[in-house]
Amino acid sequence: MYSKIIGTGSYLPEKILTNRDLESMVNTSDEWIRTRTGITQRHIASEDQVASDLALYASQKAMEAAGLSSKDIDLIIVATTTPDMVFPSTACILQNKLGIENCPAFDVQAVCSGFVYALATADMFVSSGKCRNALVVGTEIYSKIIDWNDRSTCVLFGDGAGAVVLTQSDQPGILSTHLHASGSYSDVLSVPGSISGGKVQGNPYINMEGSTVFKFAVKVLEEVVQEAVSKNNLQPSDIDWLIPHQANIRIIQSTAKKLGIPMDKVVIAVDKHGNTSAASIPLALDIAVRDGRIHSGQLVLLEGVGGGFTWGAVLLRW
Ligand code: UT7
Repeated sequence: MYSKIIGTGSYLPEKILTNRDLESMVNTSDEWIRTRTGITQRHIASEDQVASDLALYASQKAMEAAGLSSKDIDLIIVATTTPDMVFPSTACILQNKLGIENCPAFDVQAVCSGFVYALATADMFVSSGKCRNALVVGTEIYSKIIDWNDRSTCVLFGDGAGAVVLTQSDQPGILSTHLHASGSYSDVLSVPGSISGGKVQGNPYINMEGSTVFKFAVKVLEEVVQEAVSKNNLQPSDIDWLIPHQANIRIIQSTAKKLGIPMDKVVIAVDKHGNTSAASIPLALDIAVRDGRIHSGQLVLLEGVGGGFTWGAVLLRW
């Protein structure tokens, strides 16, 4: 038995913050942001929105595309770094908003690799027959953990959510999943603050050594794509669509170049969304499914890297 994605959905908050808007907030320029990152704009959630709100809209669209209703879902996994609260999990809050009475629901915290981790986990539940229809969501409101005075990070991120419904299938589906982590890099990309004694202790904003993250990302993304294709006796050139984590167009281009994959086989959303962390891969996937780029039978590779460091890939037949 395999697991197969049968519906995708996404949601972006209404408010758009352009590079020009950022020019009036910090010492930056549209030209610097575009040439160094490929980003032209990002969406920002309203003050009263939480990650489960974005997740709800994306999930409803994914279930509609799958032709399923809430009662059909028997597993919810939410990947997020910006949960609604310390607990309960955003997955439990989403479950309640969807009107689902009882099914396992939990969050996965693997930062920008979160969706790949969540999908790999759901695949194990579904392909083993433990669950029939899993809802897998990446949802983030990074605008809440950005220091809007720090030009080295505030221009990079955005808010959004993406979701998929994964179901049992006798045809692939997910072919293989590949997860990695190296905690020795935890200081390079972090939000080090925590809540203790009724207060935030330490820095509650994103702290990043950008160039270290950049070099590590290009290295491990190439490795994990090679690992995924060789596990299936394939070559990178067999991939019809590469759906990378959308952090920086230069990371995406460098990885594709090392793999010999032309850019017209790579789905790009970073220009319009910025880096939406765990939401970026399902957002890009939903765009390419809905605009008709991804066809039945095609080979699709999802890959991501993020804080931890964590990194991973999912290879699937659409
Ligand atoms: O999802 C995983 C999480 N994050 C990432 O994947 C991000 C990975 N890293 C990157 O994308 C890139 O490293 C950045 C976009 C963050 C930075 O690009 P870079 O080419 O590595 O630039 P840099 O950090 O080497 O900085 C170059 C210069 C510095 O000035 P000096 O020291 O050369 O005078 C920075 O102060 O650019 C300056 N700078 C800016 N200038 C204008 C940094 N941020 C800005 C800015 N506007 N927003």
